[in-house]
Amino acid sequence: MPPITSKAAAMLPCSLLLFFFLLLSSAAAAAIKLPLYRHLPAAAAASPSAAAAESTHHHHLSRLAAASLARAAHLKGGHGHAHAEPSSQAPAAVRTALYPHSYGGYAFSVSLGTPPQPLPVLLDTGSHLSWVPCTSSYQCRNCSSSPSAMSAMAVFHPKNSSSSRLVGCRNPACRWIHSKSPSTCGSTGNNGNGDVCPPYLVVYGSGSTSGLLISDTLRLSPSSSSSAPAPFRNFAIGCSIVSVHQPPSGLAGFGRGAPSVPSQLKVPKFSYCLLSRRFDDNSAVSGELVLGDAMVPAGKKKTTMQYVPLLNNAASKPPYSVYYYLALTGISVGGKPVNLPSRAFVPSSGGGAIIDSGTTFTYLDPTVFKPVAAAMESAVGGRYNRSRPVEDALGLRPCFALPPGPGGAMELPDLELKFKGGAVMRLPVENYFVAAGPAGGPAAGPVAICLAVVSDLPASGGDGAAAGPAIILGSFQQQNYHIEYDLGKERLGFRQQPCAPKS
Ligand SMILES: *[C@@H]1O[C@H](CO)[C@@H](O)[C@H](O)[C@H]1NC(C)=O
Ligand SMILES: *[C@@H]1O[C@H](CO)[C@@H](O)[C@H](O)[C@H]1NC(C)=O
Ligand SMILES: *[C@@H]1O[C@H](CO)[C@@H](O)[C@H](O)[C@H]1NC(C)=O
Repeated sequence: MPPITSKAAAMLPCSLLLFFFLLLSSAAAAAIKLPLYRHLPAAAAASPSAAAAESTHHHHLSRLAAASLARAAHLKGGHGHAHAEPSSQAPAAVRTALYPHSYGGYAFSVSLGTPPQPLPVLLDTGSHLSWVPCTSSYQCRNCSSSPSAMSAMAVFHPKNSSSSRLVGCRNPACRWIHSKSPSTCGSTGNNGNGDVCPPYLVVYGSGSTSGLLISDTLRLSPSSSSSAPAPFRNFAIGCSIVSVHQPPSGLAGFGRGAPSVPSQLKVPKFSYCLLSRRFDDNSAVSGELVLGDAMVPAGKKKTTMQYVPLLNNAASKPPYSVYYYLALTGISVGGKPVNLPSRAFVPSSGGGAIIDSGTTFTYLDPTVFKPVAAAMESAVGGRYNRSRPVEDALGLRPCFALPPGPGGAMELPDLELKFKGGAVMRLPVENYFVAAGPAGGPAAGPVAICLAVVSDLPASGGDGAAAGPAIILGSFQQQNYHIEYDLGKERLGFRQQPCAPKS
């Protein structure tokens, strides 16, 4: 199959570009580093065989595209987010591994309770309430096609934890999920449970989760290179009893607001490095999540971090106040600025650009997607044929058929995001084009490449497209970037670097 390369980049062989693997030196101490996986660490996941993964590649991409769109609908529609109230905890810095998931998320390990019960959780910068599958009666409806993954799912048992408490109705944490102090507080009418914070219901895109807010001791499971951090006591987290259409794990909310992990742990800064998607569900490889300051290892050349101001959308209500809005000023394709409507740049309930670890493919609302896709097509300039069957099957477009015959390189236009202050994110081509295998049958290699960006059709989007962020920068576009959320300085730093650890 022909190599894929950006016009400006050297003509790298496909094997290098698609399956790039660079070495990364291990980082210094100070902060707590946690391995970050794209699969569920520990016993939680029944890994599909490589062959099975390969044959479902096509289906897999369309599922990721559909999931990205559902996620966009959720972030834009803004259901189920909680209000914020302060809480008290000691400051700390933590580093953990982030693992990739075949369904699009990145996960790391925590443990909850006394004695500690290990649990994988998904890193989510687009929401702020954390929750875990909880109690032996936990029900997850339409959660996974694989019964083995579901039966292997790690569930938290509060009864086995001596430090587990139900959050009270008058606890400030209860107001995170019930913006007004529930009028039922203290009433003994409802099963005599008037002193317990009423159940939460969080709605995500096509799914939801509900349960009771508890507090318990949270421990992060650091990378072997850093020492075990002190446990965080009285961490408020959802004990979910019923979920619909959720991954077989819990979720760690890293968005803005009091319930979020960085806020409860009083961490002024966190960062992550998202492993290339080629490592889907490979538990042997992880990226990294760092709570605290990620120090550049001694002796390692300092690569410059570029910074973008974060725009606080505090004027708006949750969920928009939970998101990290970026001061985007432009997008260019093939070196030419794309003419975009102002709503692409202005954070409001109907626009702006956010960065989200929980969205796989970047979402562009139709008013932004159309000119970007048109610019991409015009820059390709008819050199490659559009592949409509692949577009229809995947829900991604434009897709270009790989040219016939071996050897030839594909020249693809550059894609750059420009930010206030001069930072430019020039994405490597493997961060915005995805190789698609043939529909159905086992892969004989990719047949087309597709722009890894989703949008809703104006027809189906209707007025809904006018609400929420106009741009959601997803994790596919963040692969092999070190991304730093500097909450103290209200800025987002990024730097291109390989995220797979030295092996
Ligand atoms: C589960 O999926 C089936 C088929 O897609 C659907 O009919 C059903 O309503 C779903 N159940 C829930 C609880 O969402
Ligand atoms: C929790 O405790 C029960 C007994 O009360 C025991 O059967 C169960 O295995 C324990 N679960 C875990 C996860 O430790
Ligand atoms: C485009 O399609 C035509 C007709 O099927 C074919 O002859 C040609 O080789 C294709 N070009 C490329 C670059 O794939």
